Amino acid sequence: MEDPKENIVFASLKNISKSFGKVNALKNVTMEIEKNKITAIVGDNGSGKSTLIKILSGTIRPDSGSIYIEDNLYKYLTPKLAYEKGIATVYQDLALDNFRDVTGNIFLGKEITKFGFILDYEKMYRETEFLLKNLNINIPYLKTPVGYLSGGQRQSVAIGRAIYQGKKLIILDEPTAAMGVKESTAANHLIKSLPDKGFAVLIISHDIYQVFDISDRIFILEHGEVVDDVMKNQVTPQELRERISLGAKNCLRESECID
Ligand SMILES: Nc1ncnc2c1ncn2[C@@H]1O[C@H](COP(=O)(O)OP(=O)(O)OP(=O)(O)O)[C@@H](O)[C@H]1O
Ligand SMILES: [Mg+2]
Repeated sequence: MEDPKENIVFASLKNISKSFGKVNALKNVTMEIEKNKITAIVGDNGSGKSTLIKILSGTIRPDSGSIYIEDNLYKYLTPKLAYEKGIATVYQDLALDNFRDVTGNIFLGKEITKFGFILDYEKMYRETEFLLKNLNINIPYLKTPVGYLSGGQRQSVAIGRAIYQGKKLIILDEPTAAMGVKESTAANHLIKSLPDKGFAVLIISHDIYQVFDISDRIFILEHGEVVDDVMKNQVTPQELRERISLGAKNCLRESECID
């Protein structure tokens, strides 16, 4: 048995670079994502966060560098390979089927059948109920089409699906950006419960307080480079804020900027 408290790396990136024409979106990025931990990436608009996530979810191929998933080396991933290796990405638009209910979405593509061909709705509802209860997700009526649910509930369904379908790394892109206070508190609560259930979580957020609240380790990206790698328990929110803004130039005219 693995000791859940041991730091075990699920995925790592070594010297990943990616350019789009003349734009160096990522430059020699090296990063580890540990099991049972929440890792965050913070950085300004255009610093390369989404590009990094797309490399991990297999929709963009890096120009150079290596990707290790549970010690297997890859030059690049495809969406299919990333999914098979246990990487689930919860994008902001969530990729849910708005016309299906909660259960229909949790089991999308993995429906339970009886006698080999009849959909076993009853069993899928029971499983969904159990899963949501276990994750402390509050959705009063499971037969509501998810298009009618709130943003936070929809995100919970997307996370629930990744968990139910056996994923190991859950990547969240700005998970609470469009949520109110109550919803984002619930979302943070759900995200925070994932490491103890054995998941690795990678989160992108502009919200420094959210990052500080929920993450264990924080990578700071600037112009495509990792400029800092911070253990949460070694800094205060104020120090983190300072370290993030350290690289930003505090001037408006080029002639006045000091490098
Ligand atoms: N397909 C593309 N073609 C050309 N340039 C791109 C492409 N994708 C990203 N870029 C550029 O690469 C850089 C990094 O973009 P990326 O989307 O990774 O940033 P980000 O950190 O996610 O920003 P934001 O916080 O605004 O979402 C930017 O300068 C962007 O304009
Ligand atoms: Mg982005």
